[in-house]
Amino acid sequence: MKTVKIGDMSVPALAVGCRRFNNISVEDADKYVRAALDMGANYFDHADVYGGSLSETVFGGVLAIDPSLRDKMYIQSKCGIRKAMNAFDLSTEYILSSVEGSLKRLNTDYLDVLLLHRMDALMDPEEVAEAFGKLHQQGKVRAFGVSNATPMQILLLKKHVTQPIVINQMQLSLAHCPMIAQGIYTNMDVKSAIDTDGSVLDFCRLHDITIQTWAPLQFGYQKGVFLDHPDFPELNRVLGELAEKYAVTKTAIALAWILRHPAKMQALTGTLKIGRLEDSLKAAEVELTRDEWYELFEAAGNHLPVNPQPNQARS
Ligand SMILES: NC(=O)c1ccc[n+]([C@@H]2O[C@H](COP(=O)([O-])OP(=O)(O)OC[C@H]3O[C@@H](n4cnc5c(N)ncnc54)[C@H](OP(=O)(O)O)[C@@H]3O)[C@@H](O)[C@H]2O)c1
Repeated sequence: MKTVKIGDMSVPALAVGCRRFNNISVEDADKYVRAALDMGANYFDHADVYGGSLSETVFGGVLAIDPSLRDKMYIQSKCGIRKAMNAFDLSTEYILSSVEGSLKRLNTDYLDVLLLHRMDALMDPEEVAEAFGKLHQQGKVRAFGVSNATPMQILLLKKHVTQPIVINQMQLSLAHCPMIAQGIYTNMDVKSAIDTDGSVLDFCRLHDITIQTWAPLQFGYQKGVFLDHPDFPELNRVLGELAEKYAVTKTAIALAWILRHPAKMQALTGTLKIGRLEDSLKAAEVELTRDEWYELFEAAGNHLPVNPQPNQARS
C-alpha cells in the first residue's frame, strides 16, 4: 500500500479509525482487525473516550485472543476529553492516568502514538511536557501529536515539549475542506477566505507534521456521509464518473482526493464493514490527475475564483 511518513515511521496512507468499535463484539472486531491487517491496513486510531472507553476495550479483547498481533500493528490513542464530556483536560495528572487506562484496556504495554484530542483552554504546556517526558522515558508512548490544533497552539506546546509533534489530526473531506479552500480564496470577500485554522495546512507541511484526516466522507460536523446524499448531486455525479474510470467505488475516489494532496496526508477510515474497508483502501491505488482533483473540488460546491460567477458578471 502507498505509505506516508509520520516522524520516522513509514505507515499506510489509510489508517483504520476505531471510534465505533463499541458497537461490535470482540469476535467481529477480531475478524475486522485481521482483515485489515491482511489488506495492509495496520495503523489503528483510538481515543480514551470512544464509546465511553468501550471501543478500546473491544480492541483490547482482540489482542487478548492473540497477543502476537500487537507487533504487526501501530496503535494510536488520544486523551484530553473528559469521559463525562463536560471538560477538556490536558493536565499532567489527566494525561498520565488516561494513558494508563488506554494501555490497560488495549492490552498493550505501549502506544506508538499519543495525540492530544482537543486543545484545553486551561492547558499549561509545561504540564504537557512533564507528562510526555515521563511517558516517553517509561517507554509507554513512542511518539506524540495533536488533534484539532492550530499552529499557534502547536508552537506554544513546542516551547516546552521536547519530543517532536509528528501528527495533527484534523477534519477534512471533499465536503469540508476549509484548510484547503482558504488558500485559494485568500483576500476575497467570501466565507471560504476566512482563515479558521491559522493556515494549519501550510504550517504542518513546513514543520513535517503529518495531517491525519478524520471524517473523510462526511459533511458539516458529523452531519452524515455525502456519498449518495441528495444535497450533493454534482459531487456524486463526478465521483461516479471517476469511480467508473478507475474501476473503484466512489468511496475510494473521495479518499483518493485527500491522498492526492502533496502534503501527503494520512486518511482515517471509519467504516466497520470489511467490504467497505476494502473499497476504501483502493484509494491508495488511484492517482487522480490535477484536472480531476479540481473537478471534484468544484463539484463539491467550490467555485474557482478565475471567472466571475454568472450573477457577478459585469456587462
Ligand atoms: N480527532 C477527532 O476529533 C476525531 C473526530 C471524529 C473521528 N475521528 C477519527 O476518525 C475516524 C474516521 O471518522 P468517521 O468515522 O467520521 O469517518 P467516515 O469514514 O467519514 O465515516 C464513517 C461512517 O460512514 C458510514 N458510511 C456510510 N456509507 C459509507 C461508505 N460508502 N463507505 C464508508 N463508510 C460509509 C460508516 O458506516 P458503516 O460502518 O456502516 O460502513 C461509518 O458510520 C474515527 O473512527 C476516529 O478514529 C477523530
